[in-house]
Amino acid sequence: MDQLNGVAGTADGDEINLLQAADERARSYTATIGNRRAWPAPEALEALSAFQEDFPEHGMTATDTLRLLDDIGSPATSASTGPNYFGYVIGGVLPAAAAAERLVLAWDQRASTFDSSPVSDVIETQAARWILEALDLPRSAGVGFGTSATACTIACLAAARRALLARAGWNWDRHGAQGAPVVRVMLPETAHVALIKALRILGFGLDNLVRLPVDGSGRAIVEQVPDADDLTILCLQAGEVNTGSFDDFAKLIPMAQARGAWVHVDGAFGLWARASSSRALCDGVEWADSWTADGHKWLNTPYDGAFAICREADNMATAMSSEAVYAPTSASAQQNLTLEFSRRARGIPIWAALRTLGRDGLRQLVDRNISQAQHVAERLRAEGYEILNDVVLNQVLVRADDDERTQRICRAAQASGVAWFGMTRWEGRPAFRLSFSSWRTNQENLDKLVALLVGLLRDVKN
Ligand SMILES: Cc1ncc(COP(=O)(O)O)c(C=O)c1O
Repeated sequence: MDQLNGVAGTADGDEINLLQAADERARSYTATIGNRRAWPAPEALEALSAFQEDFPEHGMTATDTLRLLDDIGSPATSASTGPNYFGYVIGGVLPAAAAAERLVLAWDQRASTFDSSPVSDVIETQAARWILEALDLPRSAGVGFGTSATACTIACLAAARRALLARAGWNWDRHGAQGAPVVRVMLPETAHVALIKALRILGFGLDNLVRLPVDGSGRAIVEQVPDADDLTILCLQAGEVNTGSFDDFAKLIPMAQARGAWVHVDGAFGLWARASSSRALCDGVEWADSWTADGHKWLNTPYDGAFAICREADNMATAMSSEAVYAPTSASAQQNLTLEFSRRARGIPIWAALRTLGRDGLRQLVDRNISQAQHVAERLRAEGYEILNDVVLNQVLVRADDDERTQRICRAAQASGVAWFGMTRWEGRPAFRLSFSSWRTNQENLDKLVALLVGLLRDVKN
């Protein structure tokens, strides 16, 4: 029993003290986030070897475990929740969402049905309603809170295929893939790798995918999209990851649906434009059959949290059903809308974020990041950088005057710890990509970023 107490973290006699110590350390991390290196110092990375211990015969104390985690772990984090992080599309964490997350951790709910967690069921139902309002999508759609846009895309595409096949008289649940009519998937050449992963896992076959030619902004060229039919899934993008561009939903969705196709929209981060003053970028997106979007990117909620949204909730509920003799099925129970049978209440920090932002705050969050992207793009262009995209959203694609210099600048910026952003490829050549997605980033951070890039451009030219 003594040993179990040790393992359980109470060797020092007090679980509450331990949690308080964890909270103190977490508070101090957050309080210093603005001054942390955006990427760890080399010595912090070297110190990570401290975790490579032998599996202990006898458990260590929880206090010591927490100490190791913070003393060695915290300095080796990328400060991606801080204001100087411009990599991928990560976003910070809004205070209300972070606070809700802490309480939800203490609750440790199986947030899959009302029976297993009444509070989670009620709050997530509310969060789902607000998401549909914020994104102005059909209010009767089903919303599953999944781990990521990738997982939610799997749920949406599974629902899409099952529904198209059902219309063609094929029972997917009973007969599966063997002998099934072929469902064809069309997607832009620039589709995110997460969508391709989802399609591969679902068994569509990479060689069978119809890749759509794109224009200079990465949008499917409307005139070159082949005719769809009633066994077609057309995947479109709200926010291409490099340029932030949007497919022409208003033209493409009605065209495909008139022929019986299912249209899915990957809106991992870009769908939030719909809640902003740039809403017109997404005109027509509301006609799609399913959508995925993340909370953990632009909504600034903690990792991990995303949504699978399906116009006909029953299509998702039947595809994702977790029905078992002891678990009654309903289109509103999260266990029937996500991949997981058991899951944590990841919709609650999302509810907290939406409740504290309100419509106004959400619009400001998205608008501010868009204008930050445009502002930095202008300044970098004036300093001799090439800006490769039309900056309509929060992504800026940048090149120096040659590929080698572009790569050197990116590596030097990453090593500096002053800011962090990553490399990408655009039209076959290296570029770096700046993403403005955090509520924390302010003018001072932008000035620092521009100064860093101006200095590095000067250095590589000398
Ligand atoms: C356009 C797009 N789709 C999908 C994804 C995958 O999202 P997640 O990491 O939540 O699976 C990303 C991630 O950057 C993305 O930018």
